[in-house]
Amino acid sequence: MKKIAPSFLAVDIWQAAAQIAAVEQAGCSYLHLDIMDGHFVPNISYGPGLLQCLRPHSSMIFDTHLMVSDAAALLDDFAAAGADIITVHVEACPHLDRILRRIHELGKKAGIVLNPATPLVMAEEALELADLVLLMSVNPGFGGQKFIAGALPRIAKLAALREEYDLHFLIEVDGGIDVTNAAEIAAAGADILVAGSAIFGKAQPAEAYLELTRLANQA
Ligand code: DX5
Ligand code: ZN
Repeated sequence: MKKIAPSFLAVDIWQAAAQIAAVEQAGCSYLHLDIMDGHFVPNISYGPGLLQCLRPHSSMIFDTHLMVSDAAALLDDFAAAGADIITVHVEACPHLDRILRRIHELGKKAGIVLNPATPLVMAEEALELADLVLLMSVNPGFGGQKFIAGALPRIAKLAALREEYDLHFLIEVDGGIDVTNAAEIAAAGADILVAGSAIFGKAQPAEAYLELTRLANQA
């Protein structure tokens, strides 16, 4: 079953509790949390305090996407705050092997993210340490951007690599996903589709979540 991970970034902060509870009650199992440091990406979002605040109110898997220059310095705090998956950018992590092992030591699932123009080969030697590989389908930093079509062949390529090496990481895709493209992204091989504006930007987030889940699983 393909999953949809609503992105907190698009939440209406005034209605955050109701919106999150609505998708969870509709059966959603992942909440995507975008952490931006104003350095690796040109925007600032929030830190471990947000996860700590949400954690007692939700049993969803906190899928924590670190868009930061120094992920290693923040791992312990995000782990303690309640992250379940911690995903780090290849472009920001020269010691990728070390950081993925550290995430596992903290008892969390480890993910690798690649920007739209970063060759898959940059992650290839570390794939066996990954529980999840996230392919960006927009340039990270902001919600509400247009899906970059070049991400589609990359999903299929990554799925082929997974098969070739007999690995089991999940493939996640993030950015610009909505009802117009969810089906083809899932068909290309994505297991988890992140959606921000297409869920929390809608008047009925639970309905939007259910519709995207249906589209992702129709093949
Ligand atoms: C972008 C973030 C995404 C973002 C997706 O830097 O990583 O997770 O929230 O938002 P939409 O779905 O609106 O493109
Ligand atoms: Zn993200």
